[in-house]
Amino acid sequence: MFDEIEFDRIKKLPKYVFAEVNELKMQERRAGADVIDFSMGNPDGDTPEHIREKLIESAQKTKTHGYSTSKGIPKLLMAIADWYKTRYDCELDPMTECVATMGSKEGYAHLTYAITNPGDVAIVPDPTYPIHEYSFRLAGGNVMKFGIEFDEHYRLNEDKFFEDLVRTFKESSPRPKYVLVNFPHNPSTATVTQEFYVRLVALAKELRFYVISDIAYGDITFRGYKTPSIMSVPGAKDVAVESFTLSKSYNMAGWRVGFFVGNKKLIGALQKIKSWLDYGMFTPIQVAATVALNGDQQCVRDITAKYEHRQDILIDAFNRAGWPMQHNEASMFVWAKIPESAAHLGSLEFSKKLLVEAGVAVAPGIGFGEYGEGWVRIALIENDNRIRQAARNIKEFLKQFEK
Ligand SMILES: Cc1ncc(COP(=O)(O)O)c(C=O)c1O
Repeated sequence: MFDEIEFDRIKKLPKYVFAEVNELKMQERRAGADVIDFSMGNPDGDTPEHIREKLIESAQKTKTHGYSTSKGIPKLLMAIADWYKTRYDCELDPMTECVATMGSKEGYAHLTYAITNPGDVAIVPDPTYPIHEYSFRLAGGNVMKFGIEFDEHYRLNEDKFFEDLVRTFKESSPRPKYVLVNFPHNPSTATVTQEFYVRLVALAKELRFYVISDIAYGDITFRGYKTPSIMSVPGAKDVAVESFTLSKSYNMAGWRVGFFVGNKKLIGALQKIKSWLDYGMFTPIQVAATVALNGDQQCVRDITAKYEHRQDILIDAFNRAGWPMQHNEASMFVWAKIPESAAHLGSLEFSKKLLVEAGVAVAPGIGFGEYGEGWVRIALIENDNRIRQAARNIKEFLKQFEK
């Protein structure tokens, strides 16, 4: 019915590659298979107790049940500013340079909606967390891409990045207005140095573009690596905003709490559009999020240690099963090249076959963009025993590719 009525915005969205693997996962489970699921960055642990308790206590106060403030309650905004001051020695005005969002994904969707004029160009390095690219496209913008490169420790090749960024910028017409960066990177786990942001801020001022930086995995770092922030570069607020989420550091993915900070013009745009679109997160969630940010950070260290431990177990077990892969410095993922003998399948076919024949679900690299082809993303959300079981299954699975 009504075939002439089209939804152009929705038509811009390709079929979600991950949906194909998800459907297959459901199908396998319905058929009784035990799927070991490394496919999503959905933390498996509980939210720390003191945060849950604060939510309950606040929810019992009936004054918290009405509409909240869309940009975030003042105490949460102050906690966000303090978080930046403590970690990155960056001064932020809570009311004009900070905004709380319903998870950072919501923030991306609405920030781009607020700041994109039809035909505006954003540069988004590839592969990427899909919302980074599609938030601009859905808002009527265009996206230019280039592939990122990194070494065997998953450290970004920063010189090559800047070479490609400048070339892409100069090739684009109209001039790009926005450059999106995300380090520690999803899906590749690539990390950068503080110097990277010094160069990026200088380039943004020279070429006149805004930077949108995502440090969702900023806390989850190993072996001495510390995530730098663009916000600690003097003058960054002239050209940049940055997002963070409580989803990963505090196992709060289902709560939907994140935030954006930085440049007043961009933060103001996000605050304004949100004031039209929502009434803010449920106040008790905001109160509990304030406690998470202000409270003892031992829980974050514990969560990080769990991922580091799982990474060690998984890399050791998968290497021994005949799938070579290396350690990285951050995030809750391993980004692994498809074993050479199975590379001809491509990441989607490999992932589907691995799921059906080995009962192991991973995210195919192609779902993150063309430069993700040849790779898969393994989320460290299964326990040690399940990781070891997956390795045994994979060892059997890989035998078919031996010549
Ligand atoms: C890089 C990155 N940014 C943002 C998000 C969104 O997180 P949330 O919407 O839960 O804050 C994710 C989620 O996986 C992510 O990987």
